Amino acid sequence: MNKQLRKAVIAGNWKMNKTPDETKALIEEIKPLVKDADCDVIVCVPYIDIHTALEATKGSNIKVGAENCHWAESGAFTGEVSAPMLKAIGVPYVIIGHSERRQYFGETDETVHDRVRAALNNDLTVILCVGEYLKQREQNITMEVIATQVKIALAGVSAEELKEKIIIAYEPVWAIGTGLTATAQQANEVNKGIRDLIADLYDADTANATVIQYGGSMNAKNADELLSQPDVDGGLIGGASLKAPDFAAIVEAASK
Ligand code: 13P
Repeated sequence: MNKQLRKAVIAGNWKMNKTPDETKALIEEIKPLVKDADCDVIVCVPYIDIHTALEATKGSNIKVGAENCHWAESGAFTGEVSAPMLKAIGVPYVIIGHSERRQYFGETDETVHDRVRAALNNDLTVILCVGEYLKQREQNITMEVIATQVKIALAGVSAEELKEKIIIAYEPVWAIGTGLTATAQQANEVNKGIRDLIADLYDADTANATVIQYGGSMNAKNADELLSQPDVDGGLIGGASLKAPDFAAIVEAASK
C-alpha cells in the first residue's frame, strides 16, 4: 500500500453464503472488531441479505456491496437484478466480473463492460475483478490476459469515473478458494502492470489514484506481506471474510 497516494480498501466477498439471520450475526461480530480501521471496509453479500446488511451496518464504518448487477435497466431477464434496483435500496458498491461469474455463468469481457457501464450510470462504485487462469500464467501471457480484461471493461470510462467509482481487484483464478496464494511479488507485479496500463490509457495521476486490490486466498496470516507491497491497495477476501476474527485481522493489517 502507498497510503500517501491511496486509501486501502478491504472488501469481503461472501459469495453464496449466509442467510439474513446469519448476516446480521456476522456483521454484529465484525463491527466492534473493525471500528477503528484506517481503511475502507466493505462486505459484499448475496442480494437476499443486502437489506439486513444495510440495517446492521447503519452508523458503523462498514459499507455494503452486491455481488453482481445486470447491464439492462429492467426487462425480461428472469432471475437478474439491475443497477437501478441496487441504487434504489441504497447499496453503494457492486462486484462485477468475478471469475466465478465468468467461469460458471457465461460472463464475458463484453458483458462485464456493459455491467460496469450500468453500475456507473446508477452511481454505484464498482469492484471490477480481473484475473488469469493457471494455464495462462504458465504460458506467460498473464499480463496480456489482464490487459485485455481491463481495456474492454474500462472502454468509455472517464478518468474521473475510474478514480472515484472503480476499484480494480486482481484475482488470479488459480488462487481463489484453493489455498494457493500468489506470492507478494507476483501480486505486486500484476497490480503494477495494471497501474502502468492505466497510466498509458489515461495518465499518471489517474493511475496513482486508482485503488487496485489483490484477491485469492488472502488470510489473516499472509495479509501483512501482501499488503506491504506498494501496488497492493487492499484485498478482496472470500473464505476469510466469513470469519469475523480473520476478516478483522486483515482489516488491521491494512490499517497499519
Ligand atoms: P478466497 O479468499 O476464498 O480465495 O476467494 C477470493 C475471492 O474470490 C474474492 O472475490
